[in-house]
Amino acid sequence: MATKNIRAEPRQQSMINCNSYVVKNVSYADNCRLITLAVPYYDKIYAGQFVHLKVDVSVDPILRRPFSIYDVRYNSDALTNIDLGFTIVGRGTDILSKKTPLDKVGFLGPLGNRFTINKTADVAVFVAGGIGITPFYFLTKQYKEAKTQTKLALLFGARNKEELYYLEEFEGLGINIEVSTDDGSFGKKGFVTLLLEDYLRKNKKKNIQIYSCGPTPMMRHVAEIAKKEDVPCELSLEKLMGCALGACGACVTKVVGNNGDFRYSRICIEGPVYNVNVLTSDF
Ligand SMILES: Cc1cc2nc3c(=O)[nH]c(=O)nc-3n(C[C@H](O)[C@H](O)[C@H](O)COP(=O)(O)OP(=O)(O)OC[C@H]3O[C@@H](n4cnc5c(N)ncnc54)[C@H](O)[C@@H]3O)c2cc1C
Ligand code: FES
Repeated sequence: MATKNIRAEPRQQSMINCNSYVVKNVSYADNCRLITLAVPYYDKIYAGQFVHLKVDVSVDPILRRPFSIYDVRYNSDALTNIDLGFTIVGRGTDILSKKTPLDKVGFLGPLGNRFTINKTADVAVFVAGGIGITPFYFLTKQYKEAKTQTKLALLFGARNKEELYYLEEFEGLGINIEVSTDDGSFGKKGFVTLLLEDYLRKNKKKNIQIYSCGPTPMMRHVAEIAKKEDVPCELSLEKLMGCALGACGACVTKVVGNNGDFRYSRICIEGPVYNVNVLTSDF
C-alpha cells in the first residue's frame, strides 16, 4: 500500500554557517574520496540532509557545492565529525580532494529535509546508483538506532566495479547487499532497476519501503516501478544549487500541484527527499 503521508519529514532545526576543519581526506578510488570535517554543531542530524560547502577560503570559487551527509559522529568533548563522500567531477570537487588535515572549509548546514524511517516496513530497500550511495550509510545507522524490526537491503548499481564506491564499508554493516554493473565487471550485468524488479517479484508478500538516490534517469525508473507496484518510495534528488537557502530558485523540480497541475519546488528547502507521489514523471 502506498503511504498516505505524501511528504518526507519537514525540516525543523537550526543550521550553522562557519568554518569547519578537515580531520582526514581518504581516497576510495581514483576519483572518489571520503572527507571528514569537524564542525561546532551538536544537534541531531538526519539521513537525507546535506551540507553546502565553500571549498576554499579564497573568494574563488565563489559558489558553494552541495554534498549529502555520509555519516556523523558526535563527541562529548570535541567537535562533531561529519563524513562526506564525493567523486571528483570538476573544479570544486578537485579543490576539495586536495584538502589536508586542519585545512578550513566553509560549512553551511545541515540543510534540507530527511528520509522517513518507516517503522511498519518489513524491509527497507536502498536503491543506489554510483555516488548516489552516500546517504545510505547514515540511513542504515539510523534504522538500526530506531530499533525497528525492519530488515535492510541495499541494491547497488554502477557503471563498473571501480565505481561501486564504499562497498566494503557497507559490507561491514551486516545488511543484505545485491550488486549490478552496466558492464558486468561485478555482480549482475545490467541496471540496478533490474535488481529492484527482481527483488519486488521475489518479495511480493512483504511490506517494502524503497529509498533511492543516483542519476536522474535511474530514479525516474525507480519511481515508475514503485508507482506501478504500489510500493512507498522516497527519492533524494540532485539539482544544480546556488544559495541552498530557498532564495535563488536554481534548484527547482516539478511537483504535483493543485487540480492535477504542477508547480516548481525548491529542493534545497522542500527536499532533497521527496515521496514519489508528489513528483511529476519528468522531475
Ligand atoms: C542535495 C545534493 C547532494 C549531493 N550529494 C553529493 C554527494 O554526496 N557526493 C557527490 O559526489 N556529489 C554530490 N552532489 C553533487 C555535487 O554537488 C556536485 O558533483 C558538485 O557540486 C560538483 O562541483 P564541481 O565544482 O566539482 O563541478 P562543476 O565544475 O560545478 O561541474 C562538473 C560537472 O558536475 C555537474 N554538477 C555540478 N553540480 C551538480 C549538482 N548539484 N548535481 C549534479 N551534478 C552536478 C555539472 O553539471 C558538470 O557536469 C550532490 C548534489 C546535491 C544537489
Ligand atoms: S539553491 Fe537557491 S533556491 Fe535552492
